[in-house]
Amino acid sequence: MSLYELFKAKGPSGFGYGSTAEEVTQGLSLDGKTILVTGCNSGLGQEAMRVLLLRGARVLGTARTLEKATAACAAAGSGAVPLACELSDPASVRACVEAVRRRGDRLDALLCNAGIMALPRREQAFGVELQLFTNHVGHFMLVTGLLDRLADDGRVVVLSSAAHTMAPKEGIRFDDLGAERRYGAWPSYGQSKLANLLFAKELARRFAGTRRTANAVHPGVIRTNLGRHMPGLASLVLGLAGPLVLKSVPQGAATEVYAAVHPAMAGTSGAYLADCNVATPRADADDPALARRLWEVTERIVAGLPGGAG
Ligand SMILES: NC(=O)c1ccc[n+]([C@@H]2O[C@H](COP(=O)([O-])OP(=O)(O)OC[C@H]3O[C@@H](n4cnc5c(N)ncnc54)[C@H](OP(=O)(O)O)[C@@H]3O)[C@@H](O)[C@H]2O)c1
Repeated sequence: MSLYELFKAKGPSGFGYGSTAEEVTQGLSLDGKTILVTGCNSGLGQEAMRVLLLRGARVLGTARTLEKATAACAAAGSGAVPLACELSDPASVRACVEAVRRRGDRLDALLCNAGIMALPRREQAFGVELQLFTNHVGHFMLVTGLLDRLADDGRVVVLSSAAHTMAPKEGIRFDDLGAERRYGAWPSYGQSKLANLLFAKELARRFAGTRRTANAVHPGVIRTNLGRHMPGLASLVLGLAGPLVLKSVPQGAATEVYAAVHPAMAGTSGAYLADCNVATPRADADDPALARRLWEVTERIVAGLPGGAG
């Protein structure tokens, strides 16, 4: 397929690589809907929040600090409510859960968008490799803490990545979650994104028999602040080739917004989406035993964090 055809091609959903978040929500009214978006101050989360607000939703926009969330929400327009949620700090995640509870909001969608990528050196939070903790454990705490606030037909959307294929061949290194024995920037990022995918799949299994859904998304490859840790050469090459190989931010936000609000996605659960269509992930992303094990291990990690279970 030529690049031109790739940009123009549409999948069965009627949308494709080149679709933008505005296009996938064209004609939709989200009046009365409340959607939580993590990482609302940058990149895809910022664009997702902007478009959801444009269509009439109320957005609870989280960022690492209240100052960042407040600035992003103020810039995004009315209907945005800022909340602090530092995903690598369990106290902050719990405080965010409590803040949503106090507001009494019923959530129509939870958009687990925030993330970090390819840290050059091993870092940890509470003994867990930092990308795994931030991208997976923090969101696990947030989502499981808010499940009883999720609408009967509520949707959980988790940002994964095609980079989940870079996870170690054994999937999740349960015997080395702190990456003490081996650390690689990309395998560890890949592992965290495989964890995001497995979490969405297991959540979907736990939602079975209800109208709630959980799905994972690869947004495409987009130049955002996510690449801040990428080596200079890789950045330079991407910069030069960018227009040919990168989506724009509006295109990058399309798949997560589509999964969160498009009527055609009601009833689709446990899927992995790319370019606004169902895609096929790495084989072990569909292994229910692996997903269940990750869920149970994550529950134990969370129970052992300062502040107790949950
Ligand atoms: N861009 C791509 O090509 C691409 C490809 C595949 C998947 N994704 C996924 O898409 C999602 C959005 O990425 P993006 O490209 O929009 O990146 P981005 O511009 O760097 O935005 C990431 C957001 O996550 C927030 N964040 C990072 N660490 C956090 C923490 N510890 N606690 C709370 N929030 C935290 C960032 O906050 P700060 O600004 O304060 O750091 C920022 O708001 C990520 O999950 C990423 O893995 C992106």
